[in-house]
Amino acid sequence: MAKQSKAPLFETLLGHAKRKVISFHTPGHKNGRGVDRRLRSFTGKNLYYFDVTVFPEVDSLHDPVGPIKKAQELMARAYGVEDSFFLVNGSSSGNMAMFLAACKPGESVIVSRNSHKSIMSGVILSGVWPIWIQPKIDQNLDIIFDSSVDQIEETLNHYPEAKAVFVTSPTYNGVATDLVKIAELCRSRGKLLLVDEAHGPHLKFHEGLPVSAVSAGADLCVQSTHKILSALSQGSVLHFNSKLLDVNQVKKVVSLLQTTSPNYLILASLDLARMQAVEHGKVMLDKVIKAAEFGRKQINNLSKYHCLTRNEIQSLGYDLDRTKLTINVTRTGLSGYQIEDILANEYNIQVDCADLFNLIAIMGIGSEKSDVQALVNALADIEKRYHGHQQNWSLQIPSLATEMVMMPRDVFFSAKTKRIPLSKAVGQISAQTLTPYPPGIPVLIPGERITAEICEYLMDMSAKDIRISGQETETLRTIKVVAN
Ligand SMILES: Cc1ncc(COP(=O)(O)O)c(C=O)c1O
Repeated sequence: MAKQSKAPLFETLLGHAKRKVISFHTPGHKNGRGVDRRLRSFTGKNLYYFDVTVFPEVDSLHDPVGPIKKAQELMARAYGVEDSFFLVNGSSSGNMAMFLAACKPGESVIVSRNSHKSIMSGVILSGVWPIWIQPKIDQNLDIIFDSSVDQIEETLNHYPEAKAVFVTSPTYNGVATDLVKIAELCRSRGKLLLVDEAHGPHLKFHEGLPVSAVSAGADLCVQSTHKILSALSQGSVLHFNSKLLDVNQVKKVVSLLQTTSPNYLILASLDLARMQAVEHGKVMLDKVIKAAEFGRKQINNLSKYHCLTRNEIQSLGYDLDRTKLTINVTRTGLSGYQIEDILANEYNIQVDCADLFNLIAIMGIGSEKSDVQALVNALADIEKRYHGHQQNWSLQIPSLATEMVMMPRDVFFSAKTKRIPLSKAVGQISAQTLTPYPPGIPVLIPGERITAEICEYLMDMSAKDIRISGQETETLRTIKVVAN
């Protein structure tokens, strides 16, 4: 059995690259010779020797027997799970795979309404009934929380037939729910626990961070190794650790969703990211956490910002990944979007995302204290130079309870849809997902009944010319519904 200090896939690829083999396989650039000169002169030419295709020496992602198999086994051991599967289309494909592996068409899954959009893809592909949990919104902190233990327990009491519970933890803001208790609850009810841990591939490697889903006891969990650790973009992992599921079913769905021409650079970077995290993760994360805490303190010394702290989040029964900086900017009178633009255009700083209230700055294994210092300096400067007007925005979810009448999958594939005026939509079944930002939580998804309240809310948005994600037309005067 290979050691954690080895990276079998990377080492195989390096050996292959050094031999400069004459290529009669894909890709067509042939070891980079055909790549546009401007790109090649910027990147250097060695990179392209890694961009190979499937042949016995480098192994096959779909039927691994060599270095990919070894690399996946090392990944599984590093996280303490039974099996790990490399993904080259990010956690988005992992989320779809979890639904397909865990459920048969017609079964139901409890899932938070503010989940990533790939969850809707999972719901549609697998043909399950989603049982939505309405997320809690904290009006003081202007953030949304994923499902708590109590919410899940209550929902399980109402819907004992649910096959699985799907949780996102940590969220984009780094807020982690109590996965240990949720796993216990799921075990005691015989339910599968599926966790979108896209933002938590590093948690396992530092005791000062929230408990990882793999340690808490999730049956399946997906992590974007590329988001925080050092894998290249799209490099993610699906971990399997279940007594209730068949690993061969997981293998099959992972294969179903992946390309037959995986990028070996991504695969090698997953192998190396694991080796690095095991060997040096603790020390590297120590540095990142210290830099983040330094930034948090400095930002909280400024007068117009507030950076979310672990104490605040723990007092609400959740935990915080301290490497994430969620910076509330409402006291500047500017929106998070405006400050995001100012940071990009005037200070050469790119945050991960923004909403009306917050900036979210994600730190990763490559972050430096000097980056944080630059962000703090820029925020201090912006606070002096810009004077916005106090806004009375608030993060609200309208209470738009409705019923699911049709399965989202059936609506998605239905040829019988029609577009009607919004004003005539009460009582119809939605064929669209409509999501206002903020808060980024769908008010309607395919298969849901359009109530008078939802209709009024959407007409109000339309009258104010507020764009709603998923509206399909220039203005929201019409809506697509299921035809009778
Ligand atoms: C919570 C969450 N889950 C899943 C994803 C999808 O991850 P990926 O970009 O690796 O496909 C994201 C992406 O931002 C996310 O924020």
